Amino acid sequence: MDLSVFLGAPGSGKGTQAKRLAQTYGFHHFSTGDMLRSAIVGNTPVGISAKKFMDNGELVPDEVMIRLIEGALSPLKPSSKILLDGFPRTVPQAEALDKQAHTQVRQAIFFQIPESVLISRLTGRRTCQKCGEPYHVLFLPPQKENVCDRCGGPLIQRSDDKEEVVGRRLQVFNQQNAALLDYYRAKNKLSQCDANQSVDAIYQKLLEWL
Ligand code: AP5
Repeated sequence: MDLSVFLGAPGSGKGTQAKRLAQTYGFHHFSTGDMLRSAIVGNTPVGISAKKFMDNGELVPDEVMIRLIEGALSPLKPSSKILLDGFPRTVPQAEALDKQAHTQVRQAIFFQIPESVLISRLTGRRTCQKCGEPYHVLFLPPQKENVCDRCGGPLIQRSDDKEEVVGRRLQVFNQQNAALLDYYRAKNKLSQCDANQSVDAIYQKLLEWL
């Protein structure tokens, strides 16, 4: 399997780009955050145990996440092209991905962005409750307020996008990120993308790499 992983701080734009690439070019897109939020809605054992970590802006334990991603990847055909968004988040997760027999991480793309931009991106984010399409109240507003352009579903604010949780999420990201970048740099697989540009400009850059 041909895997590209998107790395970057909360709000750096990984999900926006991955969803667009999946819709247009048929990549299999796995967002571990979306998978966990679905598990919470479904009240599954994974969802129940993940909720308290997510509500506090902490990472869900590695063993839970590794099992979740292994379960998602194992049914796919060897020819599949995959985008992982939000996984790996730690070096043990990256090592576990490399140990899976049928997967091959081709590249890790780091969405680089100044921290000052992230707070407004996260607190202004809205997401369609039905299809998951991301919006922003200022930068990417829907045509009709609080209604998804794609499916007409209602737009909601994620509970971990409240200002008090956002600070902790950024702190946790900063604790893990340097080691993860070193991991992929040492394997010569790291590309850095300037994520402080328009959605279209970033998308064009990613198309060159993917
Ligand atoms: P997750 O859902 O993965 O959240 P995240 O990594 O914090 O990333 P976000 O979804 O917040 O941001 P994004 O980079 O996708 O930005 P987006 O495109 O939406 O994880 C949530 C939680 O789940 C974690 O805190 C953790 O608890 C748990 N978890 C998940 N994976 C885990 C793992 N592997 N291990 C352990 N725990 C895990 O964009 C943000 C906003 O900006 C949007 O409003 C968008 O419209 C706007 N925007 C995007 N691009 C641009 C642009 N170029 N210009 C202007 N605005 C833009």
